Amino acid sequence: MTAPIQIQEQPNGVTRRAFIKGVIAAGAAVSASSYLFRGPERLFGQGSLPGAVERLMTLTVNGQQRRVDVMKQETLAMTLRYKLGLTGTKLGCDRSECGACTVLIDDVPHYSCSILTHTVRNKKVVTIEGLESPDGKLHPVQQAVVDEQGFQCAFCMPGFVMSAVGFLKTNPNPTREQLAHGISGNLCRCADYNKILNAMERGAEYLRRS
Ligand code: FES
Ligand code: FES
Repeated sequence: MTAPIQIQEQPNGVTRRAFIKGVIAAGAAVSASSYLFRGPERLFGQGSLPGAVERLMTLTVNGQQRRVDVMKQETLAMTLRYKLGLTGTKLGCDRSECGACTVLIDDVPHYSCSILTHTVRNKKVVTIEGLESPDGKLHPVQQAVVDEQGFQCAFCMPGFVMSAVGFLKTNPNPTREQLAHGISGNLCRCADYNKILNAMERGAEYLRRS
């Protein structure tokens, strides 16, 4: 029979577990201090530690400059949903399979679950919330979704719309097959692809007329 693993007391009476927790806490405090004491223009003159990532960054999202504190391992989907409150971007698989998290980065559709937020500095991010015009008029593809009632539960809808909007920038007058191929990186669990394609086709038509 194997003897149970013993947690050794350190000479000063601190357990190994407490020691490790202390090291992690100290590291977090040092990392946090590198941005907590720095204003937007480095008002307090504190430099980053060597090798540290600048956590406080400015993102351009839906035409606005948004200041946000971002961990170095944080994905754009997490930042958009949980830091900036843009919950129209959905998280389905969280591993580049379903397309529910699709946003435009410099007008090109990307899976935001698989992009680190720090890599989109100086780029333009557009989410489903940024498609309508300032007077509240829906984007033609959004209007087509309303008119065609093309989705069932609609969880996948923002991702499909963002993919279609991005694709139509490169091919405004696609055949149905080309459009299907253009949005083929998106999956629908309700699987009503014909109706979705009808909506996207109508969106392309509205866009051409606008
Ligand atoms: S949540 Fe990003 S691809 Fe599925
Ligand atoms: S309409 Fe339900 S997941 Fe697509």
